[in-house]
Amino acid sequence: AQPVIVAIDGPSGTGKSSTSKAVAAQLGLSYLDTGAQYRAITWWMVTNGIDIDDPTAIAAVAGKAEIVSGTDPENPTITVDGTDVAGPIRSQEVTSKVSAVSAVPEVRARITELQRSLATSAEKGIVVEGRDIGTTVLPDADLKVFLTASPEARAARRSGELKSTDIQATREALIKRDAADSSRKTSPLAKADDAVEVDTTELTLAQVIECVVTLVEEKR
Ligand code: C5P
Repeated sequence: AQPVIVAIDGPSGTGKSSTSKAVAAQLGLSYLDTGAQYRAITWWMVTNGIDIDDPTAIAAVAGKAEIVSGTDPENPTITVDGTDVAGPIRSQEVTSKVSAVSAVPEVRARITELQRSLATSAEKGIVVEGRDIGTTVLPDADLKVFLTASPEARAARRSGELKSTDIQATREALIKRDAADSSRKTSPLAKADDAVEVDTTELTLAQVIECVVTLVEEKR
């Protein structure tokens, strides 16, 4: 079979990562979490004391970090200059700064290049999840899915491991990040015209996975 390329985009908390990993594992495809790459470069900027409010400073060092993504859906890995950063890229500090870093065109150009080279070298195909995969990174993907969910459902999913009193704060942070991601000039979060939109608000994770697996199988 020809390699199949699947783009899964959408805002935070829609179940993109869980869905993408499970679909890739079920179908024997590679998997790439592009949000993790933007988080990794943000981690590098923070660690190296780069002023996050200064796009010129960010642009000047956009090419410095060596980011390597492991594409096994059962064990996705990410390193920066050889250091495993899978844990630190999920910190609140990185989460609050990633939208500013990922809005810088030089950062996007660099990361997009990495993404395209990983996608074209995946022998059996790949599931790539992010914000601009269907619109910008892989416009010729065989299947494009755009996941949505109500803000309440997204906040509840994101704060699953927190106390319920934190849901309000999580919801606000999430809405702020989505607004920043959707309004930036370079490849904002957007649904591609030819993407299939799946509203996951009333669906279980298993149902979303099944839906996307069926969509991929229809394309093969
Ligand atoms: O998916 P995740 O929440 O880990 O993404 C973190 C951030 O990375 C997003 O809020 C967005 O700023 C950025 N991102 C992006 N383009 C992508 C994937 C993520 O700008 N394709």
